Amino acid sequence: MEFNVKSGSPEKQRSACIVVGVYEPRRLSGVAEQLDEISEGYISNLLRRGDLEGKAGQMLLLHHVPNVLSERVLLVGCGKERELDERQYKQIIAKTIQTLNETGSMEAVCFLTELHVKGRDTYWKVRQAVETTQDTLYTFLQLKSKKGEPRRPLRKIVFNVPTRRELTVGEKAVEHGLAIAKGMKVTKDVANMPPNICNPAYLWDQAQQLAAEYDSIDVECVNEANMADLGMNSYLAVGRGSENESLMSIIHHKGGDPDQQPLVLVGKGLTFDSGGISLKPGEGMDEMKYDMGGAASVLGVMHTVAALNLPVNVIGVLAGCENMPDGKSYRPGDILTTMSGQTVEVLNTDAEGRLVLCDALTYVERFDPDTVIDVATLTGACIIALGKHATGLMSTHNPLAHELLNASEQASDRAWRLPLWDDYQEQLESPFADMTNLGGRPAGSITAGCFLSRFTKKYNWAHLDIAGTAWNSGKNKGATGRPVPMLAQFLMNRAGLAQED
Ligand code: BES
Ligand code: MN
Ligand code: ZN
Repeated sequence: MEFNVKSGSPEKQRSACIVVGVYEPRRLSGVAEQLDEISEGYISNLLRRGDLEGKAGQMLLLHHVPNVLSERVLLVGCGKERELDERQYKQIIAKTIQTLNETGSMEAVCFLTELHVKGRDTYWKVRQAVETTQDTLYTFLQLKSKKGEPRRPLRKIVFNVPTRRELTVGEKAVEHGLAIAKGMKVTKDVANMPPNICNPAYLWDQAQQLAAEYDSIDVECVNEANMADLGMNSYLAVGRGSENESLMSIIHHKGGDPDQQPLVLVGKGLTFDSGGISLKPGEGMDEMKYDMGGAASVLGVMHTVAALNLPVNVIGVLAGCENMPDGKSYRPGDILTTMSGQTVEVLNTDAEGRLVLCDALTYVERFDPDTVIDVATLTGACIIALGKHATGLMSTHNPLAHELLNASEQASDRAWRLPLWDDYQEQLESPFADMTNLGGRPAGSITAGCFLSRFTKKYNWAHLDIAGTAWNSGKNKGATGRPVPMLAQFLMNRAGLAQED
């Protein structure tokens, strides 16, 4: 897809399609009014006859509107003018893109970016339009023998900004939007890949491909033999029942001063989580291929960081592993000595994510990090708490929590904070070891966070539970690419990247 920004009037556009908004009830937006004038009331006539009410998401495709140079005009219902908020804006863009893609317009000039959206500026509107377009057009067809793509797909779109003065900011918005969309696509592709293909070695392969693409990127890999030397017994225990070797891929983006402390992202990379000996029920088990969604999003963000060449040092860790039942598997009752020296009594082999992450979180101490953020499809309980809409955010460092919530708000990638009060720590007590890996049913996401907090004392740390946000189930099953926008925004902010640079 090709994106451009322009500042122009609608009647002068010569394109396959021009897209303008109509508010409810039957009220033309400024741009639609301009078209109405030169077409001598053609559009207002249609509205009067009841062809379009203007409800959010309504579409009316017109051909050969009198005196208009473009072949088609797409009228898009935007709901009540005063009620147009960011969620509705994104939904309207998505519906528009889908309509354009399915109705044979290979090019379009879109004026929806000029609509007034509560509390948002041109930069946001253009960037979101780019991200939403790429999100809407995403398909995963690699493994279908017949691809079934549209005959005349959308190829090029121009977003309009109200004044020439805003062209620079619009162009920045396109650049940033494309970099984030690229990261989201990588995340989705890797996460959607089936677990017989996407195993820990596949994640390592993806890391190496990224390094081949950008000079700023170096990669290294920690294999099972290395883990044994380092005493990463907890991580190793989880992978012991699998035929696929556990591999921790480490991606360095060297964009800052060599002595600047790095920002570290650690992604849970369970390429399949069967539950192990504490086997999961069969229904929906295929979706546990998405248990590497954290690692996939870290890989995706590293693509964004490299594409924008952010002037900061960022390290992404893909903690690849597979949890399977086998004669060699670890079992409930086992006591593991983690790399930190703390011991863990395993009460359920399905609470494996924290066992992999705790060693990865100890491992990254060697980088003397400024900040560490882990990203994990960690607990089903997070879906019970927040549903599919928000990522669960936990942190022992208030300024970092606020920084992340702020980035989430800026990027329109929702997150909500859960507490990590010491009160919850008791739920992890074990009669035989320093702790158990199971906190019981109450506040399951928080006790998982508390478990991790015991391994992150040496740096500022936050934990993102993306169990609800990493993928969609049901008929639109597929990875979402979240929380790439939020993490990318956080890093852009840290890099001091403003809308103008
Ligand atoms: N990967 C799962 C969490 C999960 C489940 C994410 C469903 C998304 C959808 C994790 O490894 C797990 O199995 N967690 C257990 C923890 C429990 C045994 C304490 C869970 O959530 O049931
Ligand atoms: Mn599990
Ligand atoms: Zn898991």
